[in-house]
Amino acid sequence: MMNRAPALLTAIAVLLLSACGEAPPPAALPEALAANESNAAAQTQEVPSPPADLALSAAASQPAAPSVSLHELMRDVIGPNAQRVWRSVSYIATESGVQETMPVNDMDWDGLHQSVTILLEASHGLTLEGRDIGGAAYEAVRQNYQYTAAEIAERRARNLDDWNAIAVGMGDLARQIIAPIERRNILALTETGAALNQACETCHASYWLRP
Ligand code: HEC
Repeated sequence: MMNRAPALLTAIAVLLLSACGEAPPPAALPEALAANESNAAAQTQEVPSPPADLALSAAASQPAAPSVSLHELMRDVIGPNAQRVWRSVSYIATESGVQETMPVNDMDWDGLHQSVTILLEASHGLTLEGRDIGGAAYEAVRQNYQYTAAEIAERRARNLDDWNAIAVGMGDLARQIIAPIERRNILALTETGAALNQACETCHASYWLRP
């Protein structure tokens, strides 16, 4: 094992040398190569088989279960990335005049593109089966006018088609923000960005906030 790094370096050096058509390898190399070969032979026998839980099995062809709760998806993924889109353009009137914020350089626009891609993928994530609502973390911040996790889970299960349709709608609205970003069109960015909010509000009105 200790010999692996030098052996690799030697192999790489040989590759580079032969690739560049440089002078023949120094005299010491054949020896090193021979040592390599016996190392390699020894190593092929050493390679351990992968642990059982990493081995490919029939289960690996099933879709993975959601790894974060709905609460985490909202708080850490969907919320912040929607905010990034909504806050990208703003006009704030102050005593000293209007303070404008808008994407200016490629980095700003690329950041927006990333956020919209995340929202798109997250909208798909909302339709995955078996996502936990949020348990204690949600209960710790829940207000009385918001449904409990059990109530949300029950409402989602009872109206799954509606839930999924709203999620797909959110994806459609997010997708419409991509063209304005690619064309660097601030006005269209504002309009499509604002429209995205419909999907958030529709779902929150039915599944999060009590009437
Ligand atoms: C398909 C349903 C659905 C859609 C679409 C949806 N949400 Fe939510 N959202 C919920 C539910 C249910 C909760 C309450 C439970 C929770 O916190 O997960 C929630 C909670 C939240 C929270 C509160 C998280 C916290 O810290 O307590 C934020 C922020 C949020 N959503 C943002 C958004 C934004 C922004 C959008 C649109 C871009 C959106 N959501 C779209 C269902 C949805």
